[in-house]
Amino acid sequence: MSVTSQSPAALAYTPAVAEATRPLYDRIRHVIPEVEWPFHAPLVHAINRLKAERNAVILAHNYQAPEIFHTVADIVGDSLALARKAAETKADIIVLAGVHFMAETAKVVCPDKIVLMPDMSAGCSLADSITPADVRLLRQKFPGVPVATYVNTSAAVKAESDICITSGNAVEVIESLPGDEVLCIPDQYLAKWVATQTTKKVHTWTGSCEVHERFTGDQLAAYRRQFKGDITIIAHPECPPDVLAEADFVGSTAKMQDYVEGTQPKRVLLITECSMADNLAVQNPAVEFVRPCNLCPHMRKITLSNILSSLTTLEPRVEVDPAVADRARLAVERMLAVGRK
Ligand code: 13P
Ligand code: SF4
Repeated sequence: MSVTSQSPAALAYTPAVAEATRPLYDRIRHVIPEVEWPFHAPLVHAINRLKAERNAVILAHNYQAPEIFHTVADIVGDSLALARKAAETKADIIVLAGVHFMAETAKVVCPDKIVLMPDMSAGCSLADSITPADVRLLRQKFPGVPVATYVNTSAAVKAESDICITSGNAVEVIESLPGDEVLCIPDQYLAKWVATQTTKKVHTWTGSCEVHERFTGDQLAAYRRQFKGDITIIAHPECPPDVLAEADFVGSTAKMQDYVEGTQPKRVLLITECSMADNLAVQNPAVEFVRPCNLCPHMRKITLSNILSSLTTLEPRVEVDPAVADRARLAVERMLAVGRK
């Protein structure tokens, strides 16, 4: 029987489902209690069958919940990896287990594919902080200064930009631009951090991430006191400067992952969205993660249930006006070309 013709009542935790999903549960048993698995397993099983029927792939950001990240996702990573791998996939359908700007980026680089966003209201405080009209005004205020725009923006804002950046490549991309000034928008904290890594004059905007701006340098200092200095602090560049000043390492979610995998610190304080610590804990069982839990409310809107529903109905679809997409694609492709050089 095709999965699409199954009724929701058929989604039971049968012995066959338990058997088929056992290897997936074994991956995440350290972070998902066994008592919860009977609720997830039928959905996981149905999603994985339906993906194969539909020739679909699921892209999941590093902040996605472990029961999605480790059991149904085909492509995982930071915003840069998701943009790169969306451009390469041979699937007909992309399901974005992330937030809306990530789904728009996938649609911009793959205009002929169906891009599904299981909950259209999964937004981002950074993407909401700036409009295309704001970018046009900035260009008037800083004539001739290149506009480097964080991927955490709408396609319409990307379309007004010269090039995109992510937290994984911001310094490299900005260094590749002509001139000794740059507009690095809309995240004021990412821009301030970039300014410490380049000789260029960096102008910015007032946007911020509602998850990362809540951390403070005082909190980090308190953790160092609590663990008598026996702790490695890793922070995302969307955090305020006093937080980054307290950190031992600053990097995108992919760079945080590489740092933990490469150095295997005894105890890590991960200053970012806290599902990331669950996902890294699965892959690094020898590392103790201290988890101050700041969750992204937008990422949490994506669930196994709405992924299954989206794959079943092939709705809701993300569409981008083709004229906007053509201009946004130029900015994204310029960024990807810097990485290929
Ligand atoms: P990266 O995964 O690119 O570091 O981005 C973090 C983030 O906040 C995405 O929304
Ligand atoms: Fe946006 Fe911050 Fe959530 Fe990332 S973590 S999607 S930047 S609000």
